[in-house]
Parts: sequence; C-alpha cells; structure tokens
Amino acid sequence: MYAERVLSGMRPTGALHLGHYHGVLKNWVKLQHDYPCLFFVADWHALTTHYDDPQGIEKASWDMIIDWLAAGVDPKQATLFIQSRVPEHAELHLLMSMMTPLGWLERVPTYKDQQEKLAGKDLTTYGFLGYPLLMSADILIYRADKVPVGEDQIPHVEFTRELARRFNHMYGREPGFADKVEAALASLNSKSRRSFKDLRTRFQQNGDKEALERGKALLHEMTQLAPADHERLAGYLEGTGKMILVEPGYLLTPESKMPGLDGQKMSKSYGNTITLRESEDSVAKKVKSMPTDPARVRRNDPGEPSKCPVWQLHQVYSDDACKEWVQQGCRSAGIGCIECKQPVIDGILREQVPMRERAQVYLDDPVLVKNIIADGCDKARMLARETMRDVREAMGLEYH
Ligand code: TRP
Ligand code: SF4
Repeated sequence: MYAERVLSGMRPTGALHLGHYHGVLKNWVKLQHDYPCLFFVADWHALTTHYDDPQGIEKASWDMIIDWLAAGVDPKQATLFIQSRVPEHAELHLLMSMMTPLGWLERVPTYKDQQEKLAGKDLTTYGFLGYPLLMSADILIYRADKVPVGEDQIPHVEFTRELARRFNHMYGREPGFADKVEAALASLNSKSRRSFKDLRTRFQQNGDKEALERGKALLHEMTQLAPADHERLAGYLEGTGKMILVEPGYLLTPESKMPGLDGQKMSKSYGNTITLRESEDSVAKKVKSMPTDPARVRRNDPGEPSKCPVWQLHQVYSDDACKEWVQQGCRSAGIGCIECKQPVIDGILREQVPMRERAQVYLDDPVLVKNIIADGCDKARMLARETMRDVREAMGLEYH
C-alpha cells in the first residue's frame, strides 16, 4: 500500500520554546507514527531575512535539531535533514523560477506583510521575493502529499499547488504519451483496467471528484507499476500530461493555545517564553515573577483566576482537583499567589524531564546528532535526485 509522504520544515530560530512543543512538535511526533515523514531545517529560508548576519544560523540549526530530538522526534521513524545540504532544492528552485510569473510571487500575502512587519530591514531582495518558490521546491522535490503548516503558511502551499499544475501542464507532455499510457494500462489486470478507465471517464466527463479520489486510491494500490508509468497514469486520470510534480495538500497544525508568561500567546517576539530545555532555576524564577490578577495587591485581597495569566498555565498543566483548589483559593483569598504558582512550576518541570534526558545524550555526544543528520541528508538526497532526473528530462536537459 502506498503511504502518503509528509514533509515539513522549520527556520532555525534558535532554542525552541514550550509553544513550539505544544503546537508543532507534538504534532510531528504524532505524524511520524502514521506516515513516512521528512523534517528539515530551512536554513536557506533563514537567509532570506538574515542575509546580513548569517553567522548564527549554524548554531541555531544544531540547537533546534536537539530540541526536535528532545521533544521526541525519532530519527528511526522520521528523516531529519538540513535544506542546504541537499543542493538539489536549489536546482529545482532555479528551474522553476524560469516559469514562475512574477505576479504570482508578488501576490503571496506574506511578501508585503513581512516587508511591513520587518520595516527596519531591506527585504526588496530577489531571495525574499522567491521565499515561496524556494518552499515550493522543498515540497515538490520530495513529491510530498501532506505538508503540516501553521495558518500563515497556507498561501505558500496553495502557491505550490498552482506551480505544480503549471509545471505539469507545460512540461508533462512527453512524446508518445498516449502510447505509453496504453502500454501501462495493458500491463494491468482487466478488472483494474476497466475500473480505472471508468473512474477516469466519470471524472473527466462529469467532474465527479469522488471518482477522481477513487481513481487515485486505485492507482496507489498498483505497486507493481514502474514509477514513470505511475505518473503517466496519474496524468491520464487527471487529464494533464505525465504528472512530474505532485500537488501537495496541507495539514493545518492546530494553533498552539500555549499561553506565555504574560498571558499572551507564547512567542519569542513577545519575550514571554520558556524554552524546552530551560534550566529548573530559570523556570521557577520566571513563573514566580509572572504577573497575577492586579486586584490581588495584598495576600488577603480576593482575586479572579480568569484575569490571571497563571490560571491559563494551570489549564495546561493541572488536573481538575488542582484547578478547583485554585478557583476556590483565589476567590476566597485562601491561597497566596506564590502557593498557586508552585503546581505550575512542578508541571513544567515534569514535562521537561524526558526532554532533558533525551537532549543530554546528544549534548554528551554531538557526533550522534551529526550522524543522524548525515543519514537523513543521504536519504533526502536520494529522493530529491529521483525527482530531478524526471524534471531535467521533462525540460530537455538530459544530455544523454
Ligand atoms: N516557511 C516555513 C515557515 O516559516 C518553513 C518552511 C520552509 C517549510 N520550507 C518548507 C514548511 C516546506 C513546510 C514545507 O514555517
Ligand atoms: Fe492568579 Fe493564582 Fe494569584 Fe489567583 S491565586 S491571582 S489565579 S496566581
């Protein structure tokens, strides 16, 4: 059975925080059990905005990889690699740049948004305009079916889909396509051949989407087909030429509800974070200095948990009994804020124990991390090369 491939990347922003853990990383850890996953460090993407000070990128990348491993991303299940170590991404980016309309790039909402947000930085660069194109290359080069991303990245995946369609339409018509399709169909048993043709007709004549999905499912089961025939039949089913690049779908990462130390969403730009591997002392210190309900000036002033950021953390870390204790104790001034914060500190430290343990192994022996990434890069490169072979051939660059 064909398993859909999941791919996602993260820019190396340095130490990850608990917001990343509760949002993205827990999701990756779950996905790695269900799909073949590729997760990579998007270091070239970091350069699109940090081109003037690239020195920190390497360290931020290694730190981030250790955080992934600490969070439970398992290199035995998922392939972990670094974008710039698989230069095929750049080749695909370049080749696609030939057929990418400028207007498509200018219309991607993050282009203008980020330029406004990072107003102090000159982002009128070629590289920054090409951010979504580079991301498309990342995705298309692995023929990824599913891309887990946050809401802000959805337009980039949509852009990738349009680009894949344009590419297939433009270059997917190989000479003798119809004959090759016939030959591939002839290799199927008559029952599959009949239902496949029937589903194609239903999709192409009546626009029956369900027939398209069933056709794709049927195709996925035809594991005996050579990859090239697989793509031809996919193109035949959808009415394009040979499908060289696969249109990806996205998996929306549930927005992290993780509150920061000030009650706003936890985010590096708000300076309200606790990192995955923050030291115990620092966790305690940060939580102890959190603001509380401003009405509780003195110990015997009653308070209201819903006006207090500490309460939001109780909702992540505390069981019902503890939450009841907070509600009662706060409103009756039966407990003090210092007391109230202790279970939160304990909860965070408990959550960090396995992360700290996993990270320690890699901190003690950094060669382990290097090896994981070297293996991951090798695997990624093999997949990327397969796609590039087809892309070059389709664009007439084979030079046999
Ligand atoms: N742009 C993504 C972000 O900022 C990171 C990224 C780069 C990515 N290439 C990707 C995500 C490919 C998914 C797939 O979050
Ligand atoms: Fe916040 Fe707890 Fe103090 Fe109430 S008792 S204000 S919930 S820290």
